[in-house]
Amino acid sequence: AAAPLAVSAGCALGGSSTPAPGAVAAPNGLRPLPIPPLATATTDTAGVRRFTLTARPGSTEILPGKRTPTWGYDGSILGPTIRARRGETVAFTIENALPEATTVHWHGMHVPARFDGGPHQTIAPGARWNPTWTVNQPAASLWYHPHPHGATEKHVYRGLAGMFLIDDEDSDAPDMPKDYGVDDIPLIVQDKRFHPDGTLDESDPTDVGLLGDTLVTNGIAGAYLPVRTSLVRLRILNGSAGRMYNFGFADGRGFQMIASDGGLLRAPVALERIALSPGERAEIVVAVDGGVPVMLRAFPFEDRAGLDRSHAAQFGVEDTFDVLELRPAANLGRSAALPAVLASIPRPDLSAVAAERHFELKWFMINGERMDMNRIDFSSAVDTTEVWTVRNTDNWPHSFHVHDTQFQILDIDGTPPPPDLAGWKDTIYTTPGRTFRLALRFADYTDPTLPYMYHCHMLFHEDRGMMGQFLVLAPGQQPAPMTMDMPMG
Ligand code: C2O
Ligand code: CU
Repeated sequence: AAAPLAVSAGCALGGSSTPAPGAVAAPNGLRPLPIPPLATATTDTAGVRRFTLTARPGSTEILPGKRTPTWGYDGSILGPTIRARRGETVAFTIENALPEATTVHWHGMHVPARFDGGPHQTIAPGARWNPTWTVNQPAASLWYHPHPHGATEKHVYRGLAGMFLIDDEDSDAPDMPKDYGVDDIPLIVQDKRFHPDGTLDESDPTDVGLLGDTLVTNGIAGAYLPVRTSLVRLRILNGSAGRMYNFGFADGRGFQMIASDGGLLRAPVALERIALSPGERAEIVVAVDGGVPVMLRAFPFEDRAGLDRSHAAQFGVEDTFDVLELRPAANLGRSAALPAVLASIPRPDLSAVAAERHFELKWFMINGERMDMNRIDFSSAVDTTEVWTVRNTDNWPHSFHVHDTQFQILDIDGTPPPPDLAGWKDTIYTTPGRTFRLALRFADYTDPTLPYMYHCHMLFHEDRGMMGQFLVLAPGQQPAPMTMDMPMG
């Protein structure tokens, strides 16, 4: 087994040591990748795992030698990695030490609507929020981030985001790389722009919002990862507001994709590129050779974007960024080969489809409407299968995210999805002009009052109103939506 790397002390995220000033600079100026610390929990007598998170302002050395005012959970930027097993009950005390109201949304989580952390679950400055639920979904790399009405982009861009990892029997497989921070690495990829004094440039959004010119990985620009094992698992989150990436390795080597948004794929898939729009995740495993560094790079997204060339540049899809240099030791611990079968994913049962719905994404609207917190767009019956048809009829990039569930793509323009899109998904890039058909199921939780959201996850679009709300109802239950005049949260 590999010796643990000394990654936790000097370059853990947050606090005053983010990352340690003067941290062992490499010849090419890269700094060691900060690994978000695992959130600590206490377990009460009922077996409930209790976490505390405080959203607060701080300052972070994102660029070497510059202090940037940022927001973070517990630390100065991003947040600790929360980890729980399927079947465990988790409970949170979330404290808002920011100067304005925020929320905490559990992206990808199957969770009761009142604990979903959408725009209805506002936490006022100085207030607390106490969501709790039992984790019941497959092992996955989920994440958490703010979702305040009209201000999500700003809150995420300032630094509020963290990973939420779920474990189960499949992810326990002995041959999986799973030593957190050693051969199992969370990678939160974002883009930012800076004023000369180091403060974040939040001005002048493009049509996809706050597009940055600097690639930031786990809270710093220019990162390398010391590697001690022959295989490395990267849990990549596109945590950007509006930028899309097409990840691959600079020397052209391939990798195995093992998980999409909502969990492990059926089997590893050999790829050379993985495209992620904002909010999407992919877990990949790459083989490295002793002493041979290799760069994880974001290549132009153009091919997958489906945008014509005259439009492409303004959305940043032609840009290339270095993301993370993997720097293997001369002598590597030999990792086991990946399991040939990772998980079983039941095919959706389409013999009894309870509802078919259509969503057109166009002009900052979904089906011609902008978000209204007092309008419920539809109600779904709990624990039934629905088929949703999603079409981006704009010449712009959009994505589509649904709360409370993980869905499967049935087909894209009538063709089964490629292997990287054939597992559990909660967010998809909707290529202009293509028709995506999704199978969804909203299990367990019903609430006649509080809705779940569906929206474009390009946060500028979401904030501009590309979002709708739906209730999940028990048989016979009548909707009784609350209005915004009533006290929230
Ligand atoms: Cu990642 Cu509705 O959000
Ligand atoms: Cu959009």
